[in-house]
Amino acid sequence: MKKIAVLTSGGDAPGMNACVRAVVRTALKSDVQVTGICRGFQGMIEGDFTPLSHLSVSNIIHRGGTFLKTARSKDFLTPEGRKVAFANLQKEGIEGVVVIGGDGSFRGAMTLNTEFGIPVIGCPGTIDNDLFGTDSTIGYDTAVNTVVQAVDKIRDTADAHNRLFFVEVMGRDAGFIALRSGIASGAETVLIPETTTYVNSLIDTLEKGWKNHKSSAIIIVAEGDESGGAYELAKSVGSKFSHWETKVTVLGHIQRGGSPSAFDRVLASGLGNKAVVELLKGETNKMVGLHHKNFVLTPFSMATKHHNKINSQLLELVNVLS
Ligand code: F6P
Repeated sequence: MKKIAVLTSGGDAPGMNACVRAVVRTALKSDVQVTGICRGFQGMIEGDFTPLSHLSVSNIIHRGGTFLKTARSKDFLTPEGRKVAFANLQKEGIEGVVVIGGDGSFRGAMTLNTEFGIPVIGCPGTIDNDLFGTDSTIGYDTAVNTVVQAVDKIRDTADAHNRLFFVEVMGRDAGFIALRSGIASGAETVLIPETTTYVNSLIDTLEKGWKNHKSSAIIIVAEGDESGGAYELAKSVGSKFSHWETKVTVLGHIQRGGSPSAFDRVLASGLGNKAVVELLKGETNKMVGLHHKNFVLTPFSMATKHHNKINSQLLELVNVLS
């Protein structure tokens, strides 16, 4: 290969810039040119390309967001859109693509490969950590740290006022952010989509805490939990406690921004490097991931079909320690 492209797609995640940097610098070391595709698959359709040099990825390792910009492209879901996208890749002389994104982006990459035969390798970039084939996705560690910092602050005011707080976190239909941040912030309990939420047992737990003289309580709720989210819970559970005033905080997009943690920078650098190495070796239609400290490949079909499994020991830990 003489020229490859890199794009970021779907929801941005802290560490995407570090990953692009690694892709560019690894490719250039092998005398392979790199084109940046702006705004993900939408930019591929619109021909929004930019040449990337060693210097164009200087000073970005510490920056959140993605300097290539990102999008969720509806046009790429159509055969017409994909035809135009492939024609643009050919015009530009691109022989392989590194896609940094989540499961939706990998489905797009898979289709591109199946329909036009262009080699594609993916790097898992999403705060949700919901991809099978990697212990951690780029951005997940930073997002968890952001939640923990926020909950630490909420705890101060919750305690000062004797309040019950429902804190809603992101994760789409997965509870990884909720579970990890719940343990790290000492939450009373964590409600996640992977387990059934029993409102009565939640009320029991809170009552026990009250009897044990706890002055405040924090419940972390994953946005995809079947309970319907923090506001619904505040209505159904909060109304049972006259001694605690109930408050809701929805952390929202604050979880997606900010400077990536050291862990995410190292992860993103390793994944970006491995993606290019494997692409140049002739691999395609696979995601690179971190498994037991090694960078490994998983077919897109598996990475997008299964979720990572929730660690039941961690789940148990929340309840034991609350
Ligand atoms: O996939 C990342 C994520 O932040 C999810 O946790 C969340 O459900 C979704 O994206 C929000 O998407 P948007 O930024 O398009 O509202």
